[in-house]
Amino acid sequence: MKLLFVGDIYGRTGREMLEEYLPKMKNRYHPNLTIVNAENSAHGKGITKKIYTQLLEMGADILTMGNHTWDNREIFEFIDDAKKIVRPANFPEGTPGTGMRIIQVNQLSVAVINLQGRVFLPPIDDPFRTADRLITEARKKTNFIFVDIHAETTSEKLALGWYLDGRVSAVIGTHTHVQTADERIFPQGTAFLSDVGMTGPYNGIIGVERAAVTKRFLTAMPVRFESDQGPGQLGAVLISIDNQSGRAVKIERILINDDHPFFD
Ligand SMILES: [Fe+2]
Ligand SMILES: [Fe+2]
Repeated sequence: MKLLFVGDIYGRTGREMLEEYLPKMKNRYHPNLTIVNAENSAHGKGITKKIYTQLLEMGADILTMGNHTWDNREIFEFIDDAKKIVRPANFPEGTPGTGMRIIQVNQLSVAVINLQGRVFLPPIDDPFRTADRLITEARKKTNFIFVDIHAETTSEKLALGWYLDGRVSAVIGTHTHVQTADERIFPQGTAFLSDVGMTGPYNGIIGVERAAVTKRFLTAMPVRFESDQGPGQLGAVLISIDNQSGRAVKIERILINDDHPFFD
């Protein structure tokens, strides 16, 4: 079983990168399931119904979200009916949507869980104990469990990775938009990467046009952020999982940009 996970799709540039490179990656890596983080897919802020449909048409099987989940209000109109989207599971009780979905891949089921960290992010429920609860539920049905931990700090993500070692197939980080090079498989078979990186503008500042960000650092004044319009990048990771045990056997980072071209 191979899972392909693509990091935060940011605006039009991110969507175009996915459209161009997902077929090429599928051709090369043959994933059984493609998971895509879509929290920034609509102009960097949230997701719309149209973009939800487009990302699935481009070849994503299921979408994960993060702290930008509610930025575009359109989501409230469709999230409860959208079967192919998960938002952080540790959002407070009563929040629309769901934090885990179990989807069929041929004869196998895969549980996809989205969690959000609490360090330098809004105070929400405990992601560790939420994970405990969901994993207990998921393991009644499957050994294949994927976790997108949407968090700011490497320490919180690494702690969750070790905490879940042997209980899930992979714990992969999102949110910082910068890919880390610490991919590994923990002793009990959980694949880990602190951050998969962003799929969006390569020459902006984590997706945003540079001048506005620089101005804010220089002046500490409020500025309007727009997506950078330059060339794109794509951050992804491929995880190979043993078909019986659900333990990861291989993890491979994928980074595509002008400095790291994809040769097909
Ligand atoms: Fe993001
Ligand atoms: Fe985020």
